[in-house]
Amino acid sequence: MSGIKIRGTGSRVPAKVTTNEDLSRMVDTSDEWITSRTGIKERHHCVAESHLDLCTGAAKAALEAAGVDPAEVGACVVCTVCADQFSPAAACLLQRELGLAEDTVCFDLNAACSGFLFGLHTMECLLSASPKRYGIVVGGEVLSRLTDFTDRSTCVLFGDAAGAVVVEFRPEWPSISAVLGVRGNDKVLGVTGVLAGGKPRIYMEGQPVFKFAVETVPKCIQAVLDKTGAAIDDVDQVVFHQANERIVDLVVKKFGVPTEKVHKNLSRYGNTSAASVPLVLDELCRDGRLGPGKKALCVGFGGGLTWAGALIGF
Ligand code: ACO
Repeated sequence: MSGIKIRGTGSRVPAKVTTNEDLSRMVDTSDEWITSRTGIKERHHCVAESHLDLCTGAAKAALEAAGVDPAEVGACVVCTVCADQFSPAAACLLQRELGLAEDTVCFDLNAACSGFLFGLHTMECLLSASPKRYGIVVGGEVLSRLTDFTDRSTCVLFGDAAGAVVVEFRPEWPSISAVLGVRGNDKVLGVTGVLAGGKPRIYMEGQPVFKFAVETVPKCIQAVLDKTGAAIDDVDQVVFHQANERIVDLVVKKFGVPTEKVHKNLSRYGNTSAASVPLVLDELCRDGRLGPGKKALCVGFGGGLTWAGALIGF
């Protein structure tokens, strides 16, 4: 025994909304194509907001919801592929913005769309060795900076957002029992680096990624159930990385998950990579479907290739 529970959640999205109609004026696409293939109707894009603004807003909201004093926070991990700068880490700047103590362990973590769950697992390990009980995990992305708005196969998919949680560690609580996986592959999904020359740019081969997701996600869910001894019936919500509605629907059907246990917000935010799982958690906490005593089985998958699942208590 020993593990973390979520004590508070928060999220921020930039003000500007880009609809499918807006994108149809930029590339050869249509609302019908995007909606039927992905479930996405609109997404938010940063204009004035920085990555740090989104992460700070989400983390402050999570601290407020948790009622935790920043001085009590022992570690802060920001999960992202696109902070404002390569260095300092976004988590270091968040230390300043949130007024965290100077002995807070702060760093960024890159596991793409699985990042938030890699971050939660890392946080559980960090707090098990910390004199302080609380930690902050943020998933924050400004993917519009990496999006090629002339490539119709990727530019319709992604949005900008940040989601954050404040967690509490107790020796007597069960672990989140994270299951993490990696299959190194830079062919089917990634972001070109500046070292390769030119502007960073998201690239993706949609069908191999789709196949990877529908094979891996059920195995990952099953691995979490096996590790914890839980059944889907014991879980209040199953929270999926919001990559594509068709992927979520296929997995839900395979496990026979009741629809009231699955929340999808893709239509409003698109795929926000590391922000997508905490964004869903925040919506579920704010409408009362998650909260004290409840459990969420969360699953992420994406670039790396990576995947991650965990059973998270509140
Ligand atoms: N509008 C209109 N037509 C398009 C668009 C668009 N936005 N994008 C691609 N097309 C065209 C293609 O050019 C192709 O045309 P062609 O047949 O003339 O060559 C046709 O549509 C079919 O393209 P496919 O790539 O085969 O389309 P598919 O049915 O596979 O759907 C999609 C694409 C939605 C990306 C799908 O492969 C998918 O869901 N993949 C999963 C990947 C995913 O979710 N990625 C998110 C990021 S990664 C992550 O979070 C894990």
